[in-house]
Amino acid sequence: MLVIGIAGGTGSGKTTVVHQIMNELPATEVGIISQDSYYKETHHLNYEERTKINFDHPRAIDFELLVKHLKALKEGKTIEQPVYSFVTHDRTDDKIITHPQKVMIVEGILILTNPELRDMFDIKIFVHADSDERLIRRLKRDIAERGRDMEEVLNRYQNTLKPMHEQFIEPTKSFADIIIPNDKYNTVAIDVVRAVINQRLN
Ligand code: C5P
Repeated sequence: MLVIGIAGGTGSGKTTVVHQIMNELPATEVGIISQDSYYKETHHLNYEERTKINFDHPRAIDFELLVKHLKALKEGKTIEQPVYSFVTHDRTDDKIITHPQKVMIVEGILILTNPELRDMFDIKIFVHADSDERLIRRLKRDIAERGRDMEEVLNRYQNTLKPMHEQFIEPTKSFADIIIPNDKYNTVAIDVVRAVINQRLN
């Protein structure tokens, strides 16, 4: 199994890069694990308390479960990936059955902060986008898809997202094998990633 870690700040375009890579591989050979699925369970908190959680700090993530699941996949076992709701800020009762594949992609803002997880990646990618681009994308997405309003997103950006990005996410760029610029000129970077994947698979 080839494990690829794809990190990058919120709104950097990780999802686009994931799709660009996946499109090149047969659907039956690639699987994906999203860090967002591994936000810690918060059943014991009420909604008001959950909105106060710092979702951009590594301690918000259940890395223990994520590492356990990736290890199981590497051993050829199927896992049940949790499902997280950005509307209720909590894990739902659903599961995504995830089978081991030749290529497993792990994506998320904080995945390179955890040493154990980081060591399991064969290829480490960091997707870079300027912070103004990231804020614009985040604002549009959270309003359109995650039930937020402008005031909330901007407050969260200033109070949490930006400082956490600078403290935890940006420094992990130094662990990356490849830094992909996320704009319309990233085709060469994607080609390089594809070539590396194909080389490792053959
Ligand atoms: O998709 P993306 O990588 O941007 O998702 C990570 C972001 O999701 C984090 O920046 C975090 O602030 C946000 N988040 C949120 N509400 C939650 C959990 C995470 O807005 N309940």
